[in-house]
Amino acid sequence: MRVLELFAGVGGMKIAYQMAFSDDKESTFEPIEILPAAITVYNTHSISKHRAKNIIGLKIHDVDNFDMWTMSPPCQPYTKQKSSKELDLDDKRSDCFMHLLTLLRGVSKRPTYIIVENVAPFYVRNGQGRMELLKVLKDLNYNISEYIINPKDSLNIPNSRNRYYLLARLNKTFDNEILQTNLPESKLKMEYSAFVRDYLLKNVPQECEITLSTKCKRGSLFDIVDLNSTSTMCFTKNYTKYAEGTGSVLKTSDQDIAAIFENHCVRKCEGDENCCLKQVGLRYFAPKEIANLMGFPDWFDFPASTTMKEQYRMIGNSINVSVVSSLIKHLLS
Ligand SMILES: C[S@@+](CC[C@H](N)C(=O)[O-])C[C@H]1O[C@@H](n2cnc3c(N)ncnc32)[C@H](O)[C@@H]1O
Repeated sequence: MRVLELFAGVGGMKIAYQMAFSDDKESTFEPIEILPAAITVYNTHSISKHRAKNIIGLKIHDVDNFDMWTMSPPCQPYTKQKSSKELDLDDKRSDCFMHLLTLLRGVSKRPTYIIVENVAPFYVRNGQGRMELLKVLKDLNYNISEYIINPKDSLNIPNSRNRYYLLARLNKTFDNEILQTNLPESKLKMEYSAFVRDYLLKNVPQECEITLSTKCKRGSLFDIVDLNSTSTMCFTKNYTKYAEGTGSVLKTSDQDIAAIFENHCVRKCEGDENCCLKQVGLRYFAPKEIANLMGFPDWFDFPASTTMKEQYRMIGNSINVSVVSSLIKHLLS
């Protein structure tokens, strides 16, 4: 199998494929990724050494003759955040995805298999991006199956990451044409711990500590979990940059944190010597711990040349490989 891994990032799609077909040592992967730090991570688990490339510069011959395309295009055009306003195809960041759809129409040998991953609003909003994707795939005679899957619900993994997936193939129809919210029966038979404690590192980088000043200013906005929690919020690329809505933080002591924060509000002690938050044990999840929650294998790690900021950004942009490996298995079944 020759796989073209578009928007490759740190290589989640390749790892998911290899988890689905662990006996397959023949398949080759061509990652296309613009971010040098992501390619550096990718190269640590690849025999061939790849260079960063921009999808916009790809020509038909660059994408022709592959058996499979994997794509997780940037989600900003379909989400409402500070830097994105659900502009869909009017957002410049969707240009590369549209460029790929044009190339797909032009190749002499179409990929037999395609998998696309994106945020759930890509489907829910019924926007132009998805409409264009469906139109091209239907014109080219692909059979299609769509999913919205959360690893917390489908695999009992203690991390929420509700995502849209589209499977397309030329050779065989799918049983279900309506949107699926559960993994196919053929999913990989793997056991996952339901508890946060089983995904944690023994030695956590110093930078994961949350400073007193951050606890004072933003502590009440955090989603706080503990070792025995069975859920964490979706970790985004802005984790540690913003306190709210970017991922959970871990309580490392037995204190009643809610009561301490209440007291803190009343006393308004702002990081001074007697601040009641001084003894509160709270830390960020390490990038490797987030990777563990997202199903990455034990051997996966970030090279020392990448900064913590880059690591959070890259893992926050990546995929749940446990979910994707089951979907790839189904796609090729
Ligand atoms: C949603 S992330 C996908 C991450 C990937 N699936 C993984 O496992 O890490 C989108 C990726 O596309 C990359 N990207 C965005 N625009 C690109 C472009 N024009 N050319 C190549 N890569 C691009 C981003 O740097 C980012 O790594």
